[in-house]
Amino acid sequence: MKRAVYPGSFDPMTKGHLDIIERASGIFDEVIIAVLINPEKKGLFNAEERVNMIEKTITDFKNVRVESFTGLLVDFMKKKEANLIVKGLRAVSDFEYELQMALLNNKLDTRVETVFLMTNEKYSCISSSAVKQIAMFGGKLTDFVPGEIVKDIEDKFKL
Ligand code: PNS
Repeated sequence: MKRAVYPGSFDPMTKGHLDIIERASGIFDEVIIAVLINPEKKGLFNAEERVNMIEKTITDFKNVRVESFTGLLVDFMKKKEANLIVKGLRAVSDFEYELQMALLNNKLDTRVETVFLMTNEKYSCISSSAVKQIAMFGGKLTDFVPGEIVKDIEDKFKL
């Protein structure tokens, strides 16, 4: 059983994330999307909102589920009996940080391997922070986030 964990902040999820989820769901038997609850960094959306938004977009993938976690990723993985981390890589600028994380996670638990999927070039320019800026200034979100969550993001900036 190849059970992979796809961790991230997902504040909010983007089309780039969904592309990685779809491809990971075809490669692994099970994929658990793990939304980090970070007490040090208050995001735009709380963990429950992030999880709910992701849930709306993954209904077609029967082997994918979403949960939130706090603390170390390797501890969450142990609880879930998973030893594969899946991550997307967009540009060389992602590489240094991702390499450090992959090495650290493997030092913390030597059973843990990180598998990288290269971004689809259509989505290489998309990030959660860009999405937040576009939304803040009333730009069109449909090219950047899954259709199911466009309204959730727009509503956040109407408050
Ligand atoms: O989407 P992001 O913000 O790049 O995701 C970062 C994430 C959640 C993958 C990373 O911050 C993480 O795994 N945090 C949990 C704490 C941890 O295990 N850190 C690694 C060892 S220092």
